[in-house]
Order: sequence, then C-alpha cells, then structure tokens
Amino acid sequence: MALPTPTPEARAVVTGASSGIGEALATELAARGHSLIVVARRTDLMEALAAKLTAAHGVQVEVRGVDLSDRAARQILLDELAERHISILCNNAGIATFGPIAQLDPAYERAQVELNAVAVHDLTLAVLPGMIARGIGGILITGSAAGNSPVPNNATYAATKAFANTFAESLRGELRGTGVNVTLLAPGPVRTEDPKPEDMSIVDKMVPDFFWISSEYTAKLSLDALGANKMRVVPGILGKTMSVANGYTPRAIVAPIVGSFYKKLGG
Ligand SMILES: NC(=O)c1ccc[n+]([C@@H]2O[C@H](COP(=O)([O-])OP(=O)(O)OC[C@H]3O[C@@H](n4cnc5c(N)ncnc54)[C@H](OP(=O)(O)O)[C@@H]3O)[C@@H](O)[C@H]2O)c1
Repeated sequence: MALPTPTPEARAVVTGASSGIGEALATELAARGHSLIVVARRTDLMEALAAKLTAAHGVQVEVRGVDLSDRAARQILLDELAERHISILCNNAGIATFGPIAQLDPAYERAQVELNAVAVHDLTLAVLPGMIARGIGGILITGSAAGNSPVPNNATYAATKAFANTFAESLRGELRGTGVNVTLLAPGPVRTEDPKPEDMSIVDKMVPDFFWISSEYTAKLSLDALGANKMRVVPGILGKTMSVANGYTPRAIVAPIVGSFYKKLGG
C-alpha cells in the first residue's frame, strides 16, 4: 500500500529533523503535502525549518524540542504521539562515537544506546496501534550499513544500528497485510553538508566525491521505498557494495579489516 494521503489532522513525525538526513526527510515530506511534527534538541533550527516549509508548501509544522536519549523527556512525547493521528514515523535521530570503547565516556555511550535503539523502539510502539487501527501507516527506520557487521572502534554505534536494522526488517514481516509499511534505510556514507578542508574526517578524505550521496537524494529514495513497502533501501554504490560485501564475508574476517579503518576515525 502506498504512503498515507496527507490530511489536515494527520502528522508525519521526523526525529533528528534539525539537520542532515532528518531535515531532508522533513523537507521532502512537506513537499509531498504532509504536515509534520519535527523532533530534535535544537529548536531554533527546527523553528526556521518549520517557517520555511509552511511558507513553501502550506503545511503545518509542529516543533518538539526533546532530548530523545532522556527517558523522562521522551515519555512526554510518546504520550502525545500515542494520542495523535500519526500517519508516518521517520525514526531517524542518531549519534555515533569512534574509538576504543574503554576510552569513551560511559554516559555518552549509554545515551547513544537510548537514542539509537531504545527511542526507536519506544516511538514505534507508541504510534503502531493507531496505524494498525487505521489500516494504514508508514515507518521508516534509519539504521546503517554499520549495523550489518561487527565494527571494532565503533562498537556502540554498530550494535545499536544492528538493533535498528533487525528491528525494522522483523517488524515489516509482522505487519504484512495490516496496511502499515516499514522500510529500513541502511546507508553507507551520506554527505549531509560540505565539510571545510580543516574539518575533513578520514572518511571525507578517503571516499572520492563521486561515491558520496546527498541527504536530499537519500530522503527522496527512502520515502519512495517506504511508499512501495520495500524492505531495505541502500542509497549509493558505496553503500550497496558495503552491504553486499558484509553479507558474503565471514564476520571474523570483516571485523579486523573494518576495525583498523575505524581506529583511524577514533583519533
Ligand atoms: N550521514 C551518514 O553518513 C550516515 C550513514 C549511515 C547512517 N546514518 C544515520 O542517519 C541518521 C541521521 O544522521 P545524519 O548524518 O543526518 O546526522 P546529523 O546531521 O548529525 O543529524 C542527527 C540528528 O539527530 C538529532 N539528535 C542527536 N542527538 C539527539 C538527541 N539526544 N535527542 C534528539 N535528537 C537528537 C540531531 O539534532 P539535535 O542535535 O538538534 O538534537 C540531528 O537532527 C542517524 O541515525 C545516523 O546514524 C548517517
């Protein structure tokens, strides 16, 4: 079944809408006529986005400044969403850390688990009963190619994205015939903004320009895939190559190769 038709009361929810892929998803949904609830911490950026999208497309955009890694703050949003008519949920907010986990801040690692995994689970469970009752809905979950294999020096991120990848694809199987579409977005590198030469990471330096894909392209492809109820969308040739390589190479071989690359990211 295609994506729900926009209505005045229905809202598409996009988490992590203050920048990058989430901002692009919100922009693409607004261009397709969907009114929105956008969620992140930087409300100034989202207020500016809301004004721009309302002016351009005539949609309603509600801003929710929520730290999704904070259970108490998250619960207020969950309670609201469970009561609202949520037509589409883009579970997109996420953070990553690099380097040996013993040297990282345990509190930030825990916050990463809360944001990348537990909040995705909570938000999905909050909106799912309404979608099933209405017989239509769409849930896009932003996982990652990093969730396909072990990634030493990126352990929390890879593990949380493995959760997101598996949760999305399992849920889709459960919801067959309900009218609720579920698609996993599992990208490789997406260039969300042009980095200044002094800010370039090793990934920016090593991946040639023609391999990079934009947030805008990723958003459009993802929403088309959600409308078609595709299981997984992997934009770009590099992401596709990573996914295929991970699928066929034993994990014991992948782990040290990928780990040595990510060690350089950890500084
Ligand atoms: N870019 C890539 O190469 C790539 C590849 C694979 C997967 N992904 C995934 O794509 C998603 C979006 O990433 P991006 O590249 O677009 O990065 P980004 O520009 O840094 O966006 C991350 C978004 O998450 C929000 N966020 C972070 N911490 C939050 C918190 N505690 N509570 C609520 N919102 C929070 C940020 O907003 P605030 O800071 O305003 O809260 C921001 O809007 C992530 O899940 C990421 O893992 C990205």
